[in-house]
Amino acid sequence: MRRVGILTSGGDAPGMNMAVRAATLIAAQRGIEVVGIERGYEGLLDRSWRALTRKAEGGLAPTHEVDVCGHLGGSILGSARCKAFYTAEGRARGAEALRELDGLVVIGGNGSLTGAHALATEHGAKVVGIPASIDNDIGCTASAIGVDSALNTIVEACDRISDTARAHRRAFVVEVMGRQSGYLCMASAIAAGADAALYREDGRDEDAIVGSVADLIRRSFEADRGKQRVLVIKAEGVEVPCTRLVRRLTEVLEPELGEVSIRATVLGHLVRGGNPSFLDRMIAGRFALAAIDALAAGATDEMVAWQSPLPGGIATPDRSVTRWPLAAVLEETEKLLDGRSPVTQARV
Ligand code: F6P
Repeated sequence: MRRVGILTSGGDAPGMNMAVRAATLIAAQRGIEVVGIERGYEGLLDRSWRALTRKAEGGLAPTHEVDVCGHLGGSILGSARCKAFYTAEGRARGAEALRELDGLVVIGGNGSLTGAHALATEHGAKVVGIPASIDNDIGCTASAIGVDSALNTIVEACDRISDTARAHRRAFVVEVMGRQSGYLCMASAIAAGADAALYREDGRDEDAIVGSVADLIRRSFEADRGKQRVLVIKAEGVEVPCTRLVRRLTEVLEPELGEVSIRATVLGHLVRGGNPSFLDRMIAGRFALAAIDALAAGATDEMVAWQSPLPGGIATPDRSVTRWPLAAVLEETEKLLDGRSPVTQARV
């Protein structure tokens, strides 16, 4: 293997740059050139890529840009959700461009891994995926790059909101990202000491949610139980918007309790930015090593996984990292999101 491409695709996640840096360093040490493909699959289609390695004394070294990017959030390569890649014609163009490379590392979430699987199965491309998405909605891996950083950001935001909420004896509904997955909501609710977590997988409709949250606030504020704040974390996958939820709660509670102070905060993209946590940097580095090893060994159509919650997978020298066929990953992802996976049951 002489030359590999690397791209970041889909929603960016803190730690993507560390994966790019580590993969480039490891490849360079082995004399493999790395090219960074810009804006995900879009850059593959129009061959927008740049060298991430340079000639150095005794061999290859990462460029300065790559060497200093590991602590940064976002993606130095840029990221995109490439519509053309959903078409057979788009993927054929991508595969054509890949003929100039001996392999491809795809860093991204479900859509990006689906694209990688299609490249491998339809065109025999050599592709290995690295899971990266704050949503933690990727099958066969306990975590993905970005999840830990996003959780730290959410918990810090909730701590701050709790300060002001206690000062005014208020209830807050805080909405967190996660697309169809309630993982960020559930995990942050535990760490932030929230009073309730509202997530799509629970399956409750709007009226049931309003009823149970109203009850929670009533019980907390009605009699003086010394409770100074109520914190409810809502996943974005729960379709009722925060503002409507707060309006309906106020309508229910004000006639009973007099003035109640309920506020909504949507954290949104704030959670996707920022420097990666230690854990995300460490996982990113170990994923990168396993991905370059896999490509060098001739593997394709696989994803590297962190402490897989499922038995099986291809072992690597790193006991926390296994490799999984992308077909198995994508199948497990579907089960994870529709509640058929035992992993979903364990989380709920
Ligand atoms: O998949 C990551 C994610 O941040 C989701 O949590 C969210 O639903 C989505 O991306 C937002 O996408 P965009 O940045 O395109 O608005």
